[in-house]
Amino acid sequence: MEKRCLFPQAGGFLHGGDYNPDQWLDRPDILKEDIRLMKLAGVNCVTLGVFSWVMYEPVEGQFSFDWLEEIMDRLYAEGIYTILSTPSAAHPAWLDAAYPTVMMVKANGERNRHGGRGNSCWSSPKYREKIGIIDRKLASRFGSHPGLLLWHISNEVGGECFCPLCAERFREYLGRRFDQDIQKLNQAWWTPFWGHCYSDFAQIEPPYSNGETSIPGLLVEWKRFTTWNIVDFLKTEIRIFKELTPQIPVTLNFMSFSQKLDYREAAKELSLVSWDSYPAFHNDQETLYETMAKTAFHHVLIRSLKPEKPYLLMECTPSVVHGMPYNKQKRPGVHRLACLQAIACGSDSVLYFQWRKNRGGHEQHHGAVVDHLGTGDTRIFREVSEVGSMLRRISEAAGSMPGSGAALLVDWDNRWALNEGRLAGEQTKNYEKTCIALWKEFFRRGVEMNVVSTEADLSGCRVVVAPMMYMLRPGTAANLKRFVENGGLLLATYLTGYVDEHQLCYMGGFPGDGLSALFGVISEELDTLYPSDRNGIRFADGTHWEVYDYAEVLRVGSAEVLGVYAEDYYQDGAAVTCNTYGQGKAYYVAARVAPAQMWTLFERMLKEAGLPVKCLPEGVEYHQRRGEKDVYDFYLNWTTQARDVPVAEGEDLLTGHPVTENMLRLDPYGAAVIRRLAPEE
Ligand code: GAL
Repeated sequence: MEKRCLFPQAGGFLHGGDYNPDQWLDRPDILKEDIRLMKLAGVNCVTLGVFSWVMYEPVEGQFSFDWLEEIMDRLYAEGIYTILSTPSAAHPAWLDAAYPTVMMVKANGERNRHGGRGNSCWSSPKYREKIGIIDRKLASRFGSHPGLLLWHISNEVGGECFCPLCAERFREYLGRRFDQDIQKLNQAWWTPFWGHCYSDFAQIEPPYSNGETSIPGLLVEWKRFTTWNIVDFLKTEIRIFKELTPQIPVTLNFMSFSQKLDYREAAKELSLVSWDSYPAFHNDQETLYETMAKTAFHHVLIRSLKPEKPYLLMECTPSVVHGMPYNKQKRPGVHRLACLQAIACGSDSVLYFQWRKNRGGHEQHHGAVVDHLGTGDTRIFREVSEVGSMLRRISEAAGSMPGSGAALLVDWDNRWALNEGRLAGEQTKNYEKTCIALWKEFFRRGVEMNVVSTEADLSGCRVVVAPMMYMLRPGTAANLKRFVENGGLLLATYLTGYVDEHQLCYMGGFPGDGLSALFGVISEELDTLYPSDRNGIRFADGTHWEVYDYAEVLRVGSAEVLGVYAEDYYQDGAAVTCNTYGQGKAYYVAARVAPAQMWTLFERMLKEAGLPVKCLPEGVEYHQRRGEKDVYDFYLNWTTQARDVPVAEGEDLLTGHPVTENMLRLDPYGAAVIRRLAPEE
């Protein structure tokens, strides 16, 4: 596999994070000390300027960049590179006072007042114009700075604006989408129901909280529009950098699995992707391993946006977060492990929010590498420095990538449709939870599984799991058929193929759009169970699965029945089926079952597909990054007990010791990164 080290000039992995020296310009002693401490901690990169608009332009039209240049120069002289952010996430007070329409309007139609951040109207020409001026100045002044690695657009973008301008752009967007034909829209949104027909695009409003929230087609289209509009805004920023500094890549920082923006649309505009990770460490509802399995899912979700190259962990906390119900410290050793997890999943960086704690302001208690104490002799600082040395020890792995023969299909439209739709159980749909829970079963056995869209090219996959694919986009059914026809193994579940992209139910049987032929079944009824209800599924070999939440009643066509319901009026009816289609097979699981119970079926699919499964001790995570000649096996022990893991011979880059036995002991919260020659493909 070709290695694509993102920033060879920085020597491999990036280590550092958000640095906000704007607050300390009157404290040269602190700025000097920062650089000394950064070097001690093995920091080679900082992110500057995320919220610096007012520092760049303290008064409208008056600009000040000297302070930034001085800091970038000083950092670069000490071997520390810069990711430079555009400051669009935080408006200066003068901007909002002079041009109130740059602020966001809430779903009730009320405009926000000045304050906070992420408070922008994506459509506002004034906002776009003003940030464009700053961006051009940043690009022309710093674009050829030798310390500049990357442009970072805004901060964690997302959020809907309901202002009159956005409403107008929504109507224009709908006009384009429906060929300016209002009858096409009426048909697609089924507006004769409840007498909601429109006679003109001008009559359509966004789904204000006190307005039209009863047309499913409108609701999902509004979400798509919001993504389109945010991306349109992002393009106005990105265009400037592509034009003035084509040699510098561009990213933005995503959040975990945000509903607010279809990341796949935004990722198309970026050179590389990045995200901010803030798991609730050591919470009292799950083991640390379970928390970190969920975090691994988020890493892989982001990686899968551009699976051909590494991504960046743009933010994580070196110690505590702030603003969660409980803000527990990471136990000693856990920070190193969490950083290594990011690297194992394909990140080429470990970056923090933030370098030094702010003295006042909203996030004054959020963890930072340098605490209010101000010294380098804290536990947190030492642990961060250990990460710095660890990243240097494994730097040869930068640019390598995990490979994957399995995929989980997840779509934003589908989650919007399911979450907003009035169907099944309001409290039990749990689309995101279901996706993560299924993914985790593969993760537990060290099976690398990408998280991709229903439109993705599946030709490199052998096994695909598609949970609750309620909404089918145009082309999804054809994509899945092609995959199975060519020998792929596909598994879909209850709630598949009910509606099309406009939320219109398929006629002639679910799953629609021809998928009933692929699965060889038709789902005739969906039974929604109350929380205490249970059913079961019996298999010929005596296996029993427990059913909760949902059970579909199937009509079986060409499929082979593998399991049947144990009880109720659909007792003995098909619940798990398999249909041979072309060279492959399409499995259908008609009821909700704990993913752990479904493992027998997943295992059968993986075996048939020739994908290896690992036998990992409880609480141990595994990933493999593949380089040109070598592979890197990552083992992470998320428990407080030592764990013995079966390994292949190689060298542990963390210790520098050869691994000659086929069993390796990992200490509590211990890890190994074993380099070995890539096996012949
Ligand atoms: C992130 C955000 C940072 C900082 C951090 C800690 O979501 O991008 O600017 O606020 O959270 O709370």
